[in-house]
Amino acid sequence: MSGRENFAGAVGAVMAMAGSAIGLGNIWRFPYMAGQNGGAAFIIIYLLCVVFLSLPIMLSETIIGRSSHSNAFGAMEKIAPGTGWKWMGLLTVISPLIILSFYSVVGGWSIGFAVKSLYPGFDNSVSSVFGEFSSSAWKPLICHTIFLLVTAVVVKAGIRNGIEKFNKYSLPLLFVLIVLIAVYSLSLPGSEEGVKYLVKPDFSQVTSKTVAYAMGQSFFSLSLGVGTILTYSSYIKKDTDILKASASTAAFDMLFALIAGFAVMPAVFAAGIEPGAGPGLIFETLPFIFVKMSAISPVLSHIVAVLFFLSIVIAALTSSISMYEVGTAYLVEEKHMSRNKAVAVIFAFTWILGILCSLSLGPLSGLKIAGLCVFDFCDVLTSNYLMTFGALLYVVFVGWKMKRQTVWEDFTNGGRQDINVKVFKPLYFLIRYVAPIVVILIFLSNLTL
Ligand code: TRP
Repeated sequence: MSGRENFAGAVGAVMAMAGSAIGLGNIWRFPYMAGQNGGAAFIIIYLLCVVFLSLPIMLSETIIGRSSHSNAFGAMEKIAPGTGWKWMGLLTVISPLIILSFYSVVGGWSIGFAVKSLYPGFDNSVSSVFGEFSSSAWKPLICHTIFLLVTAVVVKAGIRNGIEKFNKYSLPLLFVLIVLIAVYSLSLPGSEEGVKYLVKPDFSQVTSKTVAYAMGQSFFSLSLGVGTILTYSSYIKKDTDILKASASTAAFDMLFALIAGFAVMPAVFAAGIEPGAGPGLIFETLPFIFVKMSAISPVLSHIVAVLFFLSIVIAALTSSISMYEVGTAYLVEEKHMSRNKAVAVIFAFTWILGILCSLSLGPLSGLKIAGLCVFDFCDVLTSNYLMTFGALLYVVFVGWKMKRQTVWEDFTNGGRQDINVKVFKPLYFLIRYVAPIVVILIFLSNLTL
């Protein structure tokens, strides 16, 4: 194992994990969810879900990764040799590849729109631009290819020189961009309504559904259950405080979601548009807003549009890189491939599946799996089933399969981290009992959707 790379330090590790967590989920899902489900009331519930559910799950993944210093498959085999657990590990090597395939298509759209918004023609008939773009055959495929290639180049460069470096520069840039857009958005006349929509506490909106939504969102937003946090954690040094690292990751993710909310919602309300979620919000509604603004200052609207799509591209890249690394680490360590070859194999798989996802929104829309087009099938399969199932595997593995002593050693760095020694007991309780039950409930509620 002496040849295995690691992150240079705790800062690099947190940047990489936060890069994985911060993504489209923060920009298109969080603002809408908060607005729809009671504003500040939702945000408080969300915070509680992060602390009592998602953080224990995240720490479970971190402990498996860091204590084994192995990929998602090898970690299970190392900790529980000769058992079926490694096949469970293999499942979490495959799920991020499926997510990556359609994520890369969306990342491609963002590249396409960033380029499109450079042109004056962007202002015309915008409402139909997205549909035309995403359903046409060639343009999205070229953009998907570019997006995946950039991801591959970063992963190929390795842990320190590729992944850590890319996140270290792009994450601060991303924060600056989103703050600039938020400032601009808040300066638009009529933007106050958007702020109110986002934060006004309305506890009458809070039901058991709200709690389920908040859990699901915290799960998705922190990239849990698909081996990414596990794989990144396997590059964390032995003396890093993993509680601090995980809590900082969750805090950055939350902060970014809030700022993104202030970038998106005020503009939506200033333009007098009904807020919605999903790709529609960022690729249909927002371009429309930028057009409206162009009546005031065409140059400014172009600049804001380009910066906005650029920030989406960066946010998506830092997430896609983390998904790409899961499979790469597996092939290098288990199949003894060179890093270059592993990167090429992952590229081939996700490129082809991504092409199918992209075409399924246009020319191949007739091809259905379980009644869904390929794109939606991959999305539903991973977000509703594989992610929750993976999270369940991890908490059960740490809570019931791993030796308590091993978990304690890793969590407290051999008893050297005072605070961690104190919170170990309640945390272990959450991992062993609370998290599995809650995750099963979420899983069952997804089945009935
Ligand atoms: N957390 C990412 C976001 O907020 C999305 C995501 C879900 C993800 N699962 C993942 C990213 C797995 C990386 C790996 O957009």
